Amino acid sequence: MVFSQLIKDRKSIRGFQKKAVPRELIDEIIEVAKWAPSSMNTQPWYVHVVSGEPLDRIRQGNSENMINGVPPKRDFPMKEAYEGEHRKRQVAIAVQLFDAMGIERDDKARRTDWVMRGFRQFDAPVSLVLTYDKNLEPAAISQFDLGAFSHAIVLAAWERGLGTVINGQGIMQSAVVHEHAGIPDDQSIMICIAMGYPDEDFVANTVKSTREPNEKFVRYIGF
Ligand SMILES: Cc1cc2nc3c(=O)[nH]c(=O)nc-3n(C[C@H](O)[C@H](O)[C@H](O)COP(=O)(O)O)c2cc1C
Repeated sequence: MVFSQLIKDRKSIRGFQKKAVPRELIDEIIEVAKWAPSSMNTQPWYVHVVSGEPLDRIRQGNSENMINGVPPKRDFPMKEAYEGEHRKRQVAIAVQLFDAMGIERDDKARRTDWVMRGFRQFDAPVSLVLTYDKNLEPAAISQFDLGAFSHAIVLAAWERGLGTVINGQGIMQSAVVHEHAGIPDDQSIMICIAMGYPDEDFVANTVKSTREPNEKFVRYIGF
């Protein structure tokens, strides 16, 4: 597939078939994605590929904590709420998703149900948990590297007919993920990526997010 088409076609997938993803295919995706650039070629990433019972235990632990009001605790500091333009864009994609799903503004039960799906990593058969060595902290540049790696993973997956959603909700309770995926404490959990074969009948999968025109965020200097 031509790269420009691939990058534009890919979209987040939030409904998956109950079909296992072969380990060899995941390995092939990682084999491709690891050609992402990184600061001084440090390649500061680890991938913990979780499936089956351990993933179900993570879903359960995440869900229980969220229901019980346990505050999010990640391995890195993060501002919890977006503001201004960022908040507007956050709301816009949520509106697109809720519209597609037919979830009304005041339907608290269905909205909560949707949020809980996120904490369950959208019931995907596989979750790739990306970590880096804690001794890299303060690790902004390594976190940047993991971002580049993540994009390569989702593109390589899409090229092979697999859907993904990069899933911040799945690691909001990082202690749960450490415990059930056996991730050592000297690694910081950055993000997880839910992966599986897209469920073509799941309407939220039809949602295509938008992007700002270049004029809004690009400056040319010295031209
Ligand atoms: C760091 C990061 C965290 C994300 N976390 C979530 C999440 O928790 N739940 C979710 O539904 N989507 C999540 N997404 C997906 C974004 O909502 C999505 O990438 C964005 O709306 C653009 O849509 P697209 O991926 O379809 O192009 C996340 C994406 C990134 C990069």
